[in-house]
Amino acid sequence: MPTAHQTASMTGTFISEQHSEEWWKQAVVYQIYPRSFKDTTGSGLGDIAGITSKITYLKQLGVDAVWLSPFYPSELADGGYDVADYRNVDPKLGTMSDFDELARSAHEQGIKVVVDIVPNHSSDQHPWFQEALKSEPGSPARERYIFRNGRGEHGELPPTQWISSFGSPAWTRVADGQWYLHMFAKEQPDFNWKNPEIREDFLTTLRFWSDHGADGFRIDVAHGLAKDLDRDDLDRWSINNDTLPDDGSHPLYDRDDVHEIYREWRKVFNEYQPPRFAVAEAWVNPKRQYLYSSPDELGQIFNFEFAKKNWVRDELHEAIEDGIAQAERSGSTSTWVMSNHDVPRHVSRYGLPQVPARQHHRIATDWLLRNGNSYIEDRELGTRRARAAILLELALPGSTYIYQGEELGLPEVPDIPWERLEDPEAQGTSRTDLVKGRDGCRVPLPWVADDAPVIGGQSSSAGSISRFGHIDEQTGKGSFGFSPRKGSDGKTVSAEPHLPQPDWFARYAVDTEESDDNSMLSLYRKALELRHEHQTSDAALTWLEDFDRPSSSHDGADGQAGGAIAYRRANGWTNITNFSDHDIALPQGDVLLSSGPLHNGRLPQDTSVWLLLR
Ligand code: NOJ
Repeated sequence: MPTAHQTASMTGTFISEQHSEEWWKQAVVYQIYPRSFKDTTGSGLGDIAGITSKITYLKQLGVDAVWLSPFYPSELADGGYDVADYRNVDPKLGTMSDFDELARSAHEQGIKVVVDIVPNHSSDQHPWFQEALKSEPGSPARERYIFRNGRGEHGELPPTQWISSFGSPAWTRVADGQWYLHMFAKEQPDFNWKNPEIREDFLTTLRFWSDHGADGFRIDVAHGLAKDLDRDDLDRWSINNDTLPDDGSHPLYDRDDVHEIYREWRKVFNEYQPPRFAVAEAWVNPKRQYLYSSPDELGQIFNFEFAKKNWVRDELHEAIEDGIAQAERSGSTSTWVMSNHDVPRHVSRYGLPQVPARQHHRIATDWLLRNGNSYIEDRELGTRRARAAILLELALPGSTYIYQGEELGLPEVPDIPWERLEDPEAQGTSRTDLVKGRDGCRVPLPWVADDAPVIGGQSSSAGSISRFGHIDEQTGKGSFGFSPRKGSDGKTVSAEPHLPQPDWFARYAVDTEESDDNSMLSLYRKALELRHEHQTSDAALTWLEDFDRPSSSHDGADGQAGGAIAYRRANGWTNITNFSDHDIALPQGDVLLSSGPLHNGRLPQDTSVWLLLR
C-alpha cells in the first residue's frame, strides 16, 4: 500500500487518450430507481415515460449516463430484482416502445443508457421456475435452478442451515419434498449456472438489450453465479458476510469459475461497436475486485469501499488508495459511490455519529431500526459533509455513480410507518436480526414543493421526524409532483406514491433547489460542468505534499483523527478536503469551486475545494 506521500501515479498506468468507445472509464452515471423517479400515469409507481420526461433535467445536471434499476415484469418481491421476464418491460411501467423512446431521447441528448441484469436468480413467477415446480425431481426443468433433497430421515431438514440475505432460511421446500436455494427472498430462486441453457439465455438477453440501444450493463450479485455445492463443509460458510476470503474459497461467492462466465459475456459485448461495457455489483474482498473489471471481462466494478466508510479522513483515504490500486491492477479505472438504493442515504450517514464499528453502516442501520430516534441526525452537518464529499469524489480519476435524489441532498426517511414498508429485508428478519430495510432511500422523488401532501391537521406523534399526508381526493394534489394530479383517465386522482413522502421533502424539491444558487442541486450542476472541463484521462493521481496529511490529535468528527485529503491530477486540477476542526491554508492557485464558504481564504472543517494549481 502506498504511503500518504507516495504518488499513486508512480506505479500507475495511464490510459491513452480517452476513446469515445471507452466513455465509461471517466463517466458520471446517474442511477435511476424507476419506480420512484417519476410517474406519468397516476399509478403511484414511477415509469419509463417518466424517465423520458426528465431527460432535460438530467442533461442540465450534466450526467453522462443513466443506469436503470430493473424495470422488467416483476411481482416486486424485491423492488424489481425478482425478474419474471428478462426481455420485456413491466406493463405497470410501460412498454418496449417506451423503452426504445427513452433510449432514443437519451442518446439524442448524448446520455448513455445502462441496463440492470439480474443473473443470479429469477422471480418465482418466471415461466422456468413455474415449469420446475410442476416437473419431477431431476428433470431438465429442475436443473435450471438449484434443487436438492433435504437432510433428516424424511428429507425434512434443509440441505444446509444457511440464512438468506433477507434473514429467513435460504432453502424453501416444494410440494414433492425437494428444496430450492434462494440467497435472497424465497420469491427469488437461484439459477444453476452450471447449466449451459442458462448461460445461453443470458447471452440472448445481453444481445436483446444491446440491440435496443443499451450502452452497458450493471450486473447484480455478479460474484454469486458460480457455486460449488458438492462439498461437505457447506455449513461452515454463510450467505451473509461482511468480508469475503481473498482466495476464492467460498462455496457461494467470488469463485474463480465465475470469471469464465464473464469472459463469454465479453465476446458478446465486443460484437457491438462501440463495445458494450458492464459494471459488477460484487461485494468482494477489495483484493479481488480487479478480476471483474479486467478488459477481457466486465470492464468495471463498483468500489463500495468509499460508500462503506465513515466521514473520517484516514478511512476515506484508504478507500481511495485501494480503489486506485485495484484499477491499476485491472488496467481499468476505478468507480466511486456514496449512495445507492441499498444503503442509507449519505447525508444522513454523515450527520450521525461517526463511530468505527465492526460492520459498515452499523450506526445508520440501528438508527433506522428505531425509526430515527436512537441517535441525533444532524442534517445540517450531514449536508455540509455531503457537499464536501461530492467534490472529494468527483475530482478522482474514474467513474462516479450518483444515486437519484443525491443531487438534491435528500436525507434518508427513517420513520416510514412499518406497515407501509415494501422491502423484504424488513419483512424477512426477526428478533435480534430485525432491520428496517432499504425503503428510506427509495421514497419517490420530490419535483414540486408546492404540491405537498395534505396532512389533515394531525400533529406528529412524539419523537417522530416526519409527518406523512395523503393525496387530496378532489384536486389530486399531494405527491410533490411525482405523479400527475389526475390519472391517465383524466378524471380520477392519482394513487398514493408507493412509499409515503414526508412533509419535509418540500425543502428538497427540484423546483426549490433550482431557484437557489446555494442548493445541493446547484453545487452538483456546477461541479459536473467543471468536471467535464477538467477531467483528464489519467487513471492515477498525485497526493499533494504538505497538504495531504493525517492528524495525530482528536480534531475530526466525533473525536476521530482529522487531517486533510489533498490530491492533484496531471493537469493541475486539485482537491483539498479538510476534516480537522481548524482552518487550513491553501496552496497558490485559482479556486474553481468550494463546497462552502472559505474563511479569509482558508479552508474550514468539513469543506472541500477545487483549485487549479499555478
Ligand atoms: C443487489 C441489489 O442491489 C439489491 O437491491 C437486491 O436486493 C439484491 N441484489 C438481490 O437481487
